[in-house]
Amino acid sequence: MSAAAPSPISDPSPRTASPLMVVVLAAGKGTRMRSDRPKVLHPVAGRPMVAHVLAAAEALDPAARAVVIGPAMDAVAAAVDPWPVAVQAAQNGTADAVRAAEPLWRGFAGTVLIVYGDTPLITAGTLARLAAAVGPGDAPAVAVLGFRPADPGPYGRLVLDADGHLDRIVEAADADAAARSLALCNAGLMAIDGAALGPILAAIGNDNAKGEFYLTDAVAVARRMGRRAAVAEGPVAELMGINSRAELAAAEAALQARLRDRAMAGGATLVDPASVFLAADTVLGRDVEIGPNVVFGPGVVVEDGARILPFCHLEGVVVGAGASVGPFARLRPETTLGAGAHVGNFVEIKKTRLGAGSKASHLSYLGDARIGDGVNIGAGTITCNYDGVLKHETVIGDGAFIGSDSVLVAPVRIGRGALIGAGSAVDRDVADDALALTRAPLVQKDGAAPRLRARKQAEKAARARQTNEPKG
Ligand code: UD1
Ligand code: CA
Repeated sequence: MSAAAPSPISDPSPRTASPLMVVVLAAGKGTRMRSDRPKVLHPVAGRPMVAHVLAAAEALDPAARAVVIGPAMDAVAAAVDPWPVAVQAAQNGTADAVRAAEPLWRGFAGTVLIVYGDTPLITAGTLARLAAAVGPGDAPAVAVLGFRPADPGPYGRLVLDADGHLDRIVEAADADAAARSLALCNAGLMAIDGAALGPILAAIGNDNAKGEFYLTDAVAVARRMGRRAAVAEGPVAELMGINSRAELAAAEAALQARLRDRAMAGGATLVDPASVFLAADTVLGRDVEIGPNVVFGPGVVVEDGARILPFCHLEGVVVGAGASVGPFARLRPETTLGAGAHVGNFVEIKKTRLGAGSKASHLSYLGDARIGDGVNIGAGTITCNYDGVLKHETVIGDGAFIGSDSVLVAPVRIGRGALIGAGSAVDRDVADDALALTRAPLVQKDGAAPRLRARKQAEKAARARQTNEPKG
């Protein structure tokens, strides 16, 4: 295969010609994050950064996969499951990391794509373009993803020969003034012809400023072996590596911008896009309207024509077609709102199904509940789902009406069409179409209000006299 024509970055289903293996390096401690959490597990748009890299790689439908992790990184292994992991015993550099995965890539006949776990903005199209740049025989054995960051500072520099071909990579720590002045940098992603990978790694030493085995030396090594090396240039916006909290925030901002654009391109209105925070997996249907200051955690689907009014927080929720939520509503995981349902201000809902056309308009907590269609939940209604030890379920039949300020003590079932009087504490099941209410009798004392008020005023005056008396 010769270097294939680059596929455009926006190609929605990129494919590479030869079989592809993706190796993700994630063994670094991420010292500059100053965190007890492995760097690649820090979330961007509600998802660990390494999961973004895996998602981009999965779009290429690779034939084989590997993630290199450090010792005691079980949390990373769990986050990347079902990708197989290899453990790099000591962080001796990026080439050493690839070597640690040798049992997984040995004998792989195809292209091995090496991606860093701290580059979450990468897209499948760019990965495919890089992979397509290498091949067996006369094709380049190594291809590097190059980019031109505004500040090349810590990045490796790509040194070209007189013919404009990639000659070697010089790490910033090892660069002289001439190399430092180069604008074209190593984004950190590399494609290597599988047949050449073993011999190349074996020839990489650690005679450099950091005393590490640099994967970047693969270029010079391949050239010494008589093979070519190539550069595929990629967009800066996809290639920032995350090494600090500030860079994490910058990546979050960049990804949010991308997600907002995608949502709007899909037919959703974002009244104030900059104040809407989306998760990588947020799905917004056609003619969905999102007001300002709405935050989506992972796992939210908003179906066509639904409206999310300002200041709502949603996570793990399906909002049915034409439903309306907020302002100021909080929808928590495992919640489903049926078509045309309405959830108003200061309503919190968790692990609950609210049926089609049902309403909870004001000041409620609904948890562990199955609520039918056309139900009205009055202001201030609360499901008491937790007895201090266990959670219990509340079931409300279609068409029931729950009067304001009711307390539904689960486990409890309210029948279809039942009517619960305002202010009731319901701790037993209520039959279909029954009227149920608990209410302390109202006591009325004629003319007692002025008498009570006069007594209280006298009490107040007596207290004021006491505090004003000179202390003896
Ligand atoms: C690396 C490149 C540099 C490039 C930059 C792009 C090398 C030698 N340098 O530098 O040319 O411009 O990325 O962002 O490759 N890792 C391991 N094991 C190790 C060391 C690192 O798994 O022993 C992993 C890290 O978890 C990380 C990735 O490899 O995901 C890159 O390591 P990092 O230390 O961030 O490399 P840079 O110094 O940024
Ligand atoms: Ca890095």
